Amino acid sequence: MSIGILGSGALGSNVARALAKSGLSAIISNRSGPESLSDLVKELGPTITAGTLEQAAQADIVLVAVPWLAIESLLGSLPAWNNRIVIDGTNPVLFLDPNSADAKDPTNPLAAYGIKAIDLGGKSSSSVVRDLVPGARVVKAFNHLDVAVLPEPEVSGGKRTLFYSGDDAAAKAEVRSLLEACGYFAVDLGSLDTGGRLMELPFGALATHNLIKI
Ligand SMILES: NC(=O)c1ccc[n+]([C@@H]2O[C@H](COP(=O)([O-])OP(=O)(O)OC[C@H]3O[C@@H](n4cnc5c(N)ncnc54)[C@H](OP(=O)(O)O)[C@@H]3O)[C@@H](O)[C@H]2O)c1
Repeated sequence: MSIGILGSGALGSNVARALAKSGLSAIISNRSGPESLSDLVKELGPTITAGTLEQAAQADIVLVAVPWLAIESLLGSLPAWNNRIVIDGTNPVLFLDPNSADAKDPTNPLAAYGIKAIDLGGKSSSSVVRDLVPGARVVKAFNHLDVAVLPEPEVSGGKRTLFYSGDDAAAKAEVRSLLEACGYFAVDLGSLDTGGRLMELPFGALATHNLIKI
């Protein structure tokens, strides 16, 4: 199973760190191009290589790790998915410029965290992503924790809990195997419409829950 990562920022790089720690291979990519990733791939060792977005998007399992506002243009520009697996690591939030009016908006309950919720009109974020990758099997994962903890799957003798959800049982089994190979304790939250909502930031009931299975 090849793995591609779209986005090399906070989420993409920390998933790559977790994979590298377990000796798993992946191609990581970003908007700026593979040359910009030379320091990161040097840090992560031989299993993680830098590629273009198009190269990473050809993998069997493709993690989407770009800002919400970038998903439509990025996903719309990629070749056919042909039943491959897309892991949706995104959340429908806007990262705020600290000097913007939004960052000081007293009606924004998330301003102190530097983010603003994006109104999806009642849709779950994964249903939006699912519509943008026709022919792919979408599994939501890696989105519900502070990314800084992702490279530490094992904590105090226990395993960090990672939620996942999706509509295709075989795709979920593949993602579960991947999470377990990284050392996480994987917990199935059901379908995208149910589990996806529970685990999505900023308001999902299980979002940010950082649990350890002892
Ligand atoms: N940060 C967290 O704690 C966290 C936790 C869970 C989930 N998430 C979710 O993960 C996603 C990424 O967040 P992040 O914090 O990793 O963001 P980030 O640090 O800003 O990194 C974003 C990455 O996406 C790439 N990118 C931006 N626009 C693009 C475009 N139009 N086409 C292709 N690539 C593009 C950037 O490329 P360049 O590097 O070339 O600019 C960068 O590598 C978001 O949906 C976020 O909600 C974040």
